[in-house]
Order: sequence, then C-alpha cells, then structure tokens
Amino acid sequence: MDDLIADAASILARSRTAVVLTGAGVSKESGIPTFREAQTGLWARYDPEQLATLRAFRRDPELVWRWYQFRRGLVAAAQPNPAHRALAALERLVPTVILLTQNIDGFHQAAGSSDVVELHGSIGRSKCSVNCRGEPTLLDVTSLPDRYANPPRCPYCGDYVRPDVVWFGEPLPGAALQRAWRVSAECDVMIVVGTSGVVYPAAALPQIAKQAGSAVIEVNPDPGGITTTADVYLQGPAGEVLPRVVALLESYRSHPA
Ligand code: OAD
Repeated sequence: MDDLIADAASILARSRTAVVLTGAGVSKESGIPTFREAQTGLWARYDPEQLATLRAFRRDPELVWRWYQFRRGLVAAAQPNPAHRALAALERLVPTVILLTQNIDGFHQAAGSSDVVELHGSIGRSKCSVNCRGEPTLLDVTSLPDRYANPPRCPYCGDYVRPDVVWFGEPLPGAALQRAWRVSAECDVMIVVGTSGVVYPAAALPQIAKQAGSAVIEVNPDPGGITTTADVYLQGPAGEVLPRVVALLESYRSHPA
C-alpha cells in the first residue's frame, strides 16, 4: 500500500488540475449508509431505488417525503470525516481542484472544499414538484405555513414540495453535467472516491478523463465499475487512505526532492 500511496502522491505533485469524483462511500465514515447497502431502522424494509423516483413520489408522496426527512436527520446529526477534510486540504497542494459529487449531503462544502459541483442535487434544498416557476422552483420549506405537512405545498401552485435531488430516471442538472464533462476531459488527474461506478452518467466521467489522457486514481475498499479504468487503485476506506496521500503530498512540498 505504501508504494501505491506514493504513486498517487507523485501523480498529484505533477498535476495542475485535479478533478475529484465522489460517491456515497466518502460519507460512509460519517455514519451515512451508502445507497446499496442495507438501510437501517424503520427503513430497513425499503429499497432506496424504489423510493428515489418520481413515480414513487407520485404514488405515495408522504412515504417518500418522510424518508427524506429521515435522511435529512441523519445528515444533520453527522459531520464531515477525514476523507472530506483531506479532499478540502488538496486545494492547498494542487493549483486547481474541482470536486464533482453524486452525494446530496453537503459535507464537502462543510469540510471547506470551495468548488463543488453537485451532480445529484442537495438534500438541504426543496423545490416545487412541478417547478411551476421554472426549473428549479426552489422553496424555503422553513418559511412555509404548512411546513410540518408531509410534504408541504408549493405556495405558488399548491402542488407538493419535493427535495431538490435527482431521482432515478431524471436528467442531471444541465449546467452541472456539462461542466463535469468538460473538466473531466481537461484535467491532469481524476481521483474517484467511494462510488460503485454503476449509475450513469456520473460513472462515465472516469472513462472520459482516461480517454483524454488523464491519470485515474481510485479509492474504495471494494473493487467496482471504475477499478479497471484506474491507474492506481488504493484499496481501503477513504477516511484512512486520503489523509495519507495528502500528508505525503504535503511532505513533498516541505522537503522538495
Ligand atoms: P453506492 O452505494 O452505489 O456505492 C458506494 C460505494 O462506496 C461502494 O463502491 C463501496 O464499496 C464504497 N465504500 C464503502 N465504504 C467506503 C469507504 N469507507 N471509503 C470509500 N468507499 C467506500 O453509491 P454511489 O456510487 O454514490 O443516485 O451511487 C451512485 C448513485 O446511485 C447515488 O448518487 C444515487 C444512487 O442511487 C441517485 O440518487 C440518482
């Protein structure tokens, strides 16, 4: 492992632009369950893929809203972990760092990353479920008169309020996706952290980087859809592996060869 960490750090030391792609695994050590592992507590019998769809919301808005309220509670009670903090620290060590995340928990921003592209939206925001005032019609739930309803109603059109997240079968926000394609094709290195690499289009970004000549570093305890694309595969939990890479990179800077 030490050799692989050194390989990753030396790729980063030579890079001017790093793009980081993260998935649920980067928040795992904050205590947030990943999408594809068993859910906890009351929600154990539900499959997230069955809840995170417009169809499910239309069928049972209360069930889906309550599930997101539960997940908001998990996020509110948790904090960024050493993996988020190491990725934020990378900004001091590589001239340009752009962070593309599939996560909706806001932990990268909370840890101090300054350029975060949210590919799947944010659990912290809500919007009108029909975007009656244009895409997206964001709403501040805390100021709605019926804010404790499950779900509250849009004050403009009366339709339901929903979380501002991307559900299965929905397109990604156009500007975020376009920027993600562009920076993936232009970076020197892409670091892929904690994603199973099975949900497109995010899963295609490492391929784009690779085809454009960038190095790909993967951090994940288990091999998955990205692993064969990776030049350096760091097998382990992100909260342990990333701080080691960043510490080594910092040491290169304080003691240049
Ligand atoms: P998944 O739940 O599919 O995968 C989580 C990944 O994290 C797996 O590859 C795990 O091996 C890895 N992992 C677990 N613990 C880890 C740790 N401590 N450090 C690093 N990695 C760890 O989550 P995503 O790939 O993010 O989409 O899923 C992608 C998208 O599918 C999600 O954004 C969501 C989901 O369905 C939508 O909601 C549209």
